[in-house]
Amino acid sequence: MLKSSNDKQRKKVTTRTIREMKTRAEPITMLTAYDYGTALAVDRAGIDAILVGDSLGMVVLGYDTTLPVTMEDMLHHCRAVARGASYALLIGDMPFMSYQASVDDAVRNAGRFLQEAGMDAVKLEGGFERLDAVGAIISAGIPVMGHLGLTPQSVHQFGGFRAQGKEASAAKRLVEDALSLEEAGCFSIVLESIPTRLGKLVSERLEIPTIGIGAGLDCDGQVLVTHDLIGMFDRFTPRFVKRYAEIHLEMDKAFTSFRDDVQSKAFPSAEHCVEMKDEHWEALLASFDAN
Ligand code: KIV
Repeated sequence: MLKSSNDKQRKKVTTRTIREMKTRAEPITMLTAYDYGTALAVDRAGIDAILVGDSLGMVVLGYDTTLPVTMEDMLHHCRAVARGASYALLIGDMPFMSYQASVDDAVRNAGRFLQEAGMDAVKLEGGFERLDAVGAIISAGIPVMGHLGLTPQSVHQFGGFRAQGKEASAAKRLVEDALSLEEAGCFSIVLESIPTRLGKLVSERLEIPTIGIGAGLDCDGQVLVTHDLIGMFDRFTPRFVKRYAEIHLEMDKAFTSFRDDVQSKAFPSAEHCVEMKDEHWEALLASFDAN
C-alpha cells in the first residue's frame, strides 16, 4: 500500500486524540469516504477522522435523501473504507431506523459497525430524544459522535434541507441537546447548518470537540462530504461547501478521450499490448497446417 512520506511519525487517531486536540485548540479535520480508494487518499492526506456517512445514499447510490440507506449498505462501505485507512479515526454513520425503534436495536446495530466493519466509533443524529440509545451504546463500550442542527434523517420533519437553530427557542434547545449529549458521554458532536454564532456558543460551552459543517469557523473542527468538495456530486451544492476540485469535469474529459481513441483506433497502441515470440506464433500456425 502507498504511504505518505511522514507516515513514520503518524499514530492512529483515537477519540482521545481528538479530545486532546480541542484542549490544544488544534483544528480537527474530518472528511467522508465510502470506498477503499478514497479512504486511502483521505488517510494519506493526514485527515484526522473519516466518516462513512449515510450521505453515501445521495452521493454514491443516487437516492434523493439518506432515508433509504440500510445497515447492510453502511457495513459494506465501512469495510471498504477500513481496508484503505490506516491512521484516521473511523466513524460509521448509523442509518435511518437502525437506532430509533428501540435501544436494543441501537446497541446491536452500533456493535456491528465495530465487530463486522472495522469502525472505531459510530455517529447518530438527534439530541434529547436519543439519550437512551446514546447511553446504552456507550455503556456497551462503543464511542458515539452526536449530530445536531440539520440532521438529514429528519428532512421531512424540517420540510427540506434547511438551516436550523435560527430562532432563539430552537437555538436554546440545540445548546441543551448538545450539553445533554456531552453528559451522556459522546466524544464529539457534528453541528450541521446552524448560525455561526450558535456554533461558537456550543463549541465554547462543551468540553468535547464540535465538528462543524455549515456551522462557522469557531467549531473545533470541520467536516465536508468529500463528493461535494471534489465536485463529484452534481445535483446541488450546499452553500457551506467549498469546491477544491472539479473531478466530474476531469472524468468527462477522460471518458470522452477514451471513446475518441477507441473509435479512431488510437487505443490500444503497442505499449498496451502483449507480445508473443515469433517462434511460438509460427509453431501455432504450423499446428493448424498439420491438422
Ligand atoms: O452523512 C454524512 O456525510 C454526514 C455529514 C454531513 C456530517 O452526516
